[in-house]
Amino acid sequence: MPTPASVRIVEVGPRDGLQNEKAIVPTPAKVELIDRLSATGLRCIEATSFVSPKWVPQLADAAEVMAAIDRRPGVRYPVLVPNLQGYERALAAGATDIAVFTAASEAFNRRNTNAGIDESLERFAPVMARARADGVAVRGYVSTVLGCPYQGEVPLADVVRVARALHAMGCFEVSLGDTIGTGTPAKARAMLRAVAAEVPMAALAVHFHDTYGQALPNLLACLEEGVAVVDSSVSGTGGCPYARGASGNVATEDVVYMLHGMGIDTGVDLARLVDTGRWLAALLGRASGSKVTQATAVA
Ligand code: HMG
Ligand code: MG
Repeated sequence: MPTPASVRIVEVGPRDGLQNEKAIVPTPAKVELIDRLSATGLRCIEATSFVSPKWVPQLADAAEVMAAIDRRPGVRYPVLVPNLQGYERALAAGATDIAVFTAASEAFNRRNTNAGIDESLERFAPVMARARADGVAVRGYVSTVLGCPYQGEVPLADVVRVARALHAMGCFEVSLGDTIGTGTPAKARAMLRAVAAEVPMAALAVHFHDTYGQALPNLLACLEEGVAVVDSSVSGTGGCPYARGASGNVATEDVVYMLHGMGIDTGVDLARLVDTGRWLAALLGRASGSKVTQATAVA
């Protein structure tokens, strides 16, 4: 299978990145981050999350962020939604794209959403019905597709079942998340193949956390299987507060560098993206998690 000619990047830094920061980033800085990202050519930026602010206080200002960003034509700004209450908040804030999330591991899903897998799928049913009526596009996430911090191994059949269920209930795209970054390329490839036997490849995305340094090799294996949608996070921020040991997502800068090096189009201006990653790292007071940004640092 040849690699795709172009890849759509779903930038998850403002959500997956900032949900995992110890310090709460001020609202204007979140807004500036999103606006800087949309100026790089990224076409899909996950902006924030309408989960319970008691569970994720870092993103309690979701409505304020949505009100203040400069929505560029042609750019989509999906937001995370766990239940109908979150859906209503998201809609009131002007969201036109949402993402629902569950997991392939029962143990992780309970810790992350206080519900079993099937219970979370049931919670999504009224959200999907409302979204359909309102013309809101819904993406679905499956977490722990290559391992769970509580359960350990996750059977492939469970990943396939949950991905199929999300697609069948109307998610236009299902993102397969290696939440704790323990996957390796042959396993990532086998997982994607198994899911793609049930859900069309064009409706699949991959979401790799880089905890064990395996995200780019995993991504390459999946590109060779034909996936053409990739989640990543500027400066390599990210992690889930309810996934013990999870660290950052693969850095968008490094993904773009690799894809462009392979002749794959992303529409992203790498130099602008690196500047944004540097700005964010300075804001967070630490070195960038992107190797490309480190390698091109001005002495
Ligand atoms: P719960 O405590 O079982 O919910 O949490 P509840 O329905 O019993 O409600 C409890 C309280 O929360 C109530 O308030 C509700 O009103 C409120 P109280 O009466 O106590 O004052 N509440 C809400 N408030 C605002 N917005 C809402 C909302 N829902 C309830 N939407 C719940 C269940 C799902 C809400 C909770 O567990 C939760 O918010 N979990 C989210 C955890 C999270 O955000 N994790 C990170 C995102 S997932 C991820 O990072 C993985 C991913 O990146 C892919 C990968 O890497 O694998 C996507
Ligand atoms: Mg994630």
